Amino acid sequence: MTDPYVIAIDGPAAAGKGTLAKRLAEHYGLGYLDTGLLYRAVGRLARERGVDPDDAEAAGRLARELVPSHLDDGSLRGHEAGEWASRVAAHPSVRTALTDFQRDFARRPGGAVLDGRDIGTVICPQAPVKIFVTASAEVRARRRTDELLAKGRGVDYAQILDEVRQRDARDSGRSTAPLRPASDARLLDTSDLDIEAAFRAACAIVDASPPRIP
Ligand code: CDP
Ligand code: CDP
Repeated sequence: MTDPYVIAIDGPAAAGKGTLAKRLAEHYGLGYLDTGLLYRAVGRLARERGVDPDDAEAAGRLARELVPSHLDDGSLRGHEAGEWASRVAAHPSVRTALTDFQRDFARRPGGAVLDGRDIGTVICPQAPVKIFVTASAEVRARRRTDELLAKGRGVDYAQILDEVRQRDARDSGRSTAPLRPASDARLLDTSDLDIEAAFRAACAIVDASPPRIP
């Protein structure tokens, strides 16, 4: 049996991973999984149940309880949920509990795009296409600020920039599955690229990678 076709998209918060991964999935006819949602759902469960997100054992138990219906809620994508997500995501107990779900998704017969932090390094190290999407912290904070403003929320750019930097530090500094490009990942810096230009650059990477075996 041939390996499943997987496009792995990793990178820091607000680099444009989700926007790009969704477009690629549509364009190439692949399934799409936003793996950040899994960590966000565990973070939210912790919050709802009064569990300390820094308690590895308790957070691990919550991750093992996770069922697909926990992922349905639109509020998971909000800016605040990301902070709790990155705290629970530091625990090996949580990451291990979420691994099988991600790998099962990646094995789906039609192929898949997964986006997150460790798809190319840990979840799907054999993926034929790995793209590490980056942008400067300032650009990413500006994007998050604009997103919140568009939703009618009052926001402070300086505070968002601070939060983006803190999340970068936590995600890159943790000992388990730290945020870093796989050695064979292609870097895509979107600081000066709009969504369309980033999509075209990513398609060029995919089209130059090993072909999909039908
Ligand atoms: O998934 P991730 O947090 O990496 O980022 P995203 O949610 O896909 O994108 C964050 C925001 O940046 C969205 O509002 C996108 O529309 C915007 N964006 C952009 O302005 N330019 C890009 N090249 C990519 C995304
Ligand atoms: O959209 P954004 O990049 O802001 O966040 P996300 O992709 O939804 O991820 C939220 C948090 O979950 C990240 O800051 C990571 O700490 C964690 N995460 C992870 O550790 N591994 C993944 N594969 C995906 C997310």
